[in-house]
Amino acid sequence: MPTLADIVSLAKRRGFFYPGSDIYGGLANTWDYGPLGAELKKKIKELWWETFVTRRPDMVGLDSAVISSSKVWEASGHVASFADAMVDCKTCHARTRADHLIEDALDIKVEGKTLTELNEIIAKNNLKCPTCGNATLTNARSFNLLFPVHLGILAESADLAYLRGETAQGIFINFKNILDSTRVRLPFGVGQMGKSFRNEITKGQATFRTVEFEQGEIEYFFNPETTPWEPLFDSWLSAMKNFVIGTLGINETNLRTREHDDKERSFYSKKTVDLEYNYPFGYKELWGLAYRTDYDLQQHIKNSGADLSYLDPATNQKFVPHVIEPAVGIDRLVLMVLCDAYYHDEEHNRVVLKLAKKLAPYTVAVFPLLKNNPELVGRAKEIFDNLSARFRTAWDDRGNIGKRYYYQDEMGTPYCVTVDHQTLTDGTVTLRDRDTTEQIRLNASELIAHLEKSL
Ligand code: GAP
Repeated sequence: MPTLADIVSLAKRRGFFYPGSDIYGGLANTWDYGPLGAELKKKIKELWWETFVTRRPDMVGLDSAVISSSKVWEASGHVASFADAMVDCKTCHARTRADHLIEDALDIKVEGKTLTELNEIIAKNNLKCPTCGNATLTNARSFNLLFPVHLGILAESADLAYLRGETAQGIFINFKNILDSTRVRLPFGVGQMGKSFRNEITKGQATFRTVEFEQGEIEYFFNPETTPWEPLFDSWLSAMKNFVIGTLGINETNLRTREHDDKERSFYSKKTVDLEYNYPFGYKELWGLAYRTDYDLQQHIKNSGADLSYLDPATNQKFVPHVIEPAVGIDRLVLMVLCDAYYHDEEHNRVVLKLAKKLAPYTVAVFPLLKNNPELVGRAKEIFDNLSARFRTAWDDRGNIGKRYYYQDEMGTPYCVTVDHQTLTDGTVTLRDRDTTEQIRLNASELIAHLEKSL
């Protein structure tokens, strides 16, 4: 298992992700995806959308606005209670999440505890500021996580809006639009992928928890009188696991599920289960699954006056549907994929990213043996053009071949093709396998068929 430092170092070295606003000294809890990270993330997002929206007749997609009316977030309950308990240090002024402070110092879980309970634990154990070590912490206070946005040109007339704290609310507020404009029938789901924003203090766990992140959320609507919720809940949990293990190729032994107890679970949820991955800093939430009942639709009915009920065409029954919500963080999927693929190959003294082949940012790399031999370069260019019409193909003519292989291994490129002097006489190239490092010789004209078969 790699350390987080191994992952961050590889990510920066090869261009998966970099600290945000880096040349200006950085901006805490923001990261930028580099050329390889952007490709990897795009592939994961496409697979999510294909699996959960495109291929399912019972699903439709949505792409709602990132900025939404403050009324949306008042109705959903986020303005009143979407908050983390924080303590400030009177000496160094560092702000720390109270639950993280306690969990790290005492190795106990404190989800669902009240401010008073958290303060009692901090005082009883005389917990100190994790930044400067002084016992000068304030009492824990609640800090709302939503980012306010002021719309309008004049500050006085500005209308308050919020950057969305979750993509889910965009689905609930469009429920009637979707019913009126499509031919969906219950049970059906709406999937949406996009950025969400939370003003949270994080623990320096790279892209695991950031203030700006991407979510893939599904609200699956059903009639609780005709569709029993338990089997539906279980089928979504299986679908989540299948995606992680079957589609992304993650090692099953690094996954576990954890059910929220009554204290941790939101008051409107009947059951919540987290699918957790064993990140370098321990098992943490990757994907949440919650039975949210009809809480959100009812809240928006109450606050907007809109009719968000469903009329069953078969029975003429009118009711407010319930929802089951599988909600995943795309950035956490990317981080998990990197952690799971990272392999230190001692035998060959290399780091190799054993990504599932379909996830690799580049499928194949083409190398001319010598960069100043026009014949070799010309033939290699022809092969590159042929391959790149079919696969994402990298080109590298710098340094010795061994170094070029190691570079591609760290990028996770499954195959490397070398064009050498023999290619010019008999048309064959060497094809090198990332995982085994074995090389075979085959005719360049067979490359596409060979790669397609192996993918
Ligand atoms: N609509 C429900 C909801 O938003 P959540 O557990 O707060 O539930 C869902 O978020 C998923 O979004 C989490 O399982 C996690 O993967 C991801 N997520 C939440 N906060 C995040 C953050 N600050 N940075 C990165 N991912 C985050």
